Amino acid sequence: AMGYLNGKFINSSDPVLPIDERGHQFGDGVYEFIRVYNGRPFMMDQHMERLFKSAEAIRLNIGKTVEDIIAIVEDLIERSGEANCDVYMQATRGIAPRDHLFPNVEASISMTVKPFKLISDDIRKVGATVKLLPDERWQNCWIKSLNLLPNILAKQAAFEVGALEAVLVRDGFITEGSSSNFFIVKNGEILTAPATNHILHGITRIAVKEIAMELGITLKEQAFTPDELLAADEAFLSSTGLEILPVTEVDGQKIGNGCPGTVTVTLYEEFLKRI
Ligand code: PDD
Repeated sequence: AMGYLNGKFINSSDPVLPIDERGHQFGDGVYEFIRVYNGRPFMMDQHMERLFKSAEAIRLNIGKTVEDIIAIVEDLIERSGEANCDVYMQATRGIAPRDHLFPNVEASISMTVKPFKLISDDIRKVGATVKLLPDERWQNCWIKSLNLLPNILAKQAAFEVGALEAVLVRDGFITEGSSSNFFIVKNGEILTAPATNHILHGITRIAVKEIAMELGITLKEQAFTPDELLAADEAFLSSTGLEILPVTEVDGQKIGNGCPGTVTVTLYEEFLKRI
């Protein structure tokens, strides 16, 4: 696939990074994952805002403006010839001999672009299965940090019991999925964990909030427990890759009537109109 690294367009499988690169050695960087529909990056401004917030939070100077980054993304998409693709980008603290202290070098910026595969119609129709797992992450989950070890371990554990996503529980409350935000619907109202430091402030989550508002559906950013999830009428996940995906089973127990709920399906229909 096509890639970009520090000013050059490359093949994403080219061996281009020195071993002394801080993303690689320390996970010392931040990233974004952006979907491109029909040649148009979806909610690009929000992704850029989050990227620069994440970078600022780790005291990383990206060394580029939002406009610079958007220009690279557009160039990359054009060179790839893909109208429907995912752009992954990361910014790290750069290339310098390994030392925990910040080096005095420029940030590394890299990107890849790959055609996306939508989640299968079968899963979308039946709804996804998720597994509840303890949220073992740090206190700054709102930063889109490269350090994803707890997320990866949770997702893998979920996968190994046939679940599509791990849904994380911190101090008795559901935070989010390992790579998605999580919602329930009860008595026609949508609930999702508040946008604190304990969740990633998802861009698709913003879209869900906007759509709910437009449709006049109440959405409360209010923490809820696994018991409330099991008693919910509907549940769903949101992320750039999954879009809005119904969840119908949690740890072997059905949610609601076990089918994708009407609120979820309606939200997804509205979502598709935006892309
Ligand atoms: N993951 N929560 C976590 C922990 C995530 O990693 C993600 C996204 C989300 C959803 O955010 P958004 O709607 O902005 O995609 C929530 C991306 C897709 C990834 O890691 O590849």
